[in-house]
Amino acid sequence: MATRDDVLKELHLLPRWTLRSRSGLGMPETTSAARGARIAALEWPDFAADVAACTACGLCRTRQRTVPGVGATPAEWLFVGEAPGSEEDAQGEPFVGQAGRLLDSMLAALGLARGAGVYIANVLKCRPPGNRTPEPLEAAACLPYLDRQIGLLRPRLIVALGKSAATALLDVDATIASLRGRIHRYRDVPLVVTYHPAYLLRNLPDKAKAWEDLLLARRTVAKLRDAPGPGCSAPGSA
Ligand code: URA
Repeated sequence: MATRDDVLKELHLLPRWTLRSRSGLGMPETTSAARGARIAALEWPDFAADVAACTACGLCRTRQRTVPGVGATPAEWLFVGEAPGSEEDAQGEPFVGQAGRLLDSMLAALGLARGAGVYIANVLKCRPPGNRTPEPLEAAACLPYLDRQIGLLRPRLIVALGKSAATALLDVDATIASLRGRIHRYRDVPLVVTYHPAYLLRNLPDKAKAWEDLLLARRTVAKLRDAPGPGCSAPGSA
């Protein structure tokens, strides 16, 4: 009698493909769990070196430099983008290209500046070739680093810039239009969703909506300052 594999072979469906788990990324569970535990225990002095040595996904083969993040630690505000582009890949710092210049203007409009109570990071710490959208497995492999950054920073508020950041942090697949205008949470940290600066460069009318989002973020930070809760920290109050 023909076995299941005989039938699959006849249909040219061998070898069989199996789905890898999202968390394990195809690694033995012990390796994946050990990696997660190591990252969850990282402190700032070892953080950038750990990211620089990461080989958890294929982007380690095409990156020039890892881009862990930049700014004040702890920080009141955390801005999270998608992934480094070519200029960030060359310099090792997030948002240094055209989109970064717009982000700096957005910060200035709020009376903020990179490094002054503000930390900037990305979902991915390595550049996807050609600036393509991060693959879900790449984002899942990198998320433990962002999660640890959030744990170390204890920001009052996270601003998710664009769909990749919103998807990774909220674990939802939804449009920015449907997510903006209200307060979400990543663990216990309030989170506001807005458009990515690179999108705003191509869609100038939506800058007004992004400004509304930033005002919502500023009001939220001000309220939290008046009534600080657990996990909130003022700059320099480590
Ligand atoms: N876009 C991002 O999302 N991050 C950067 O660092 C640069 C451009």
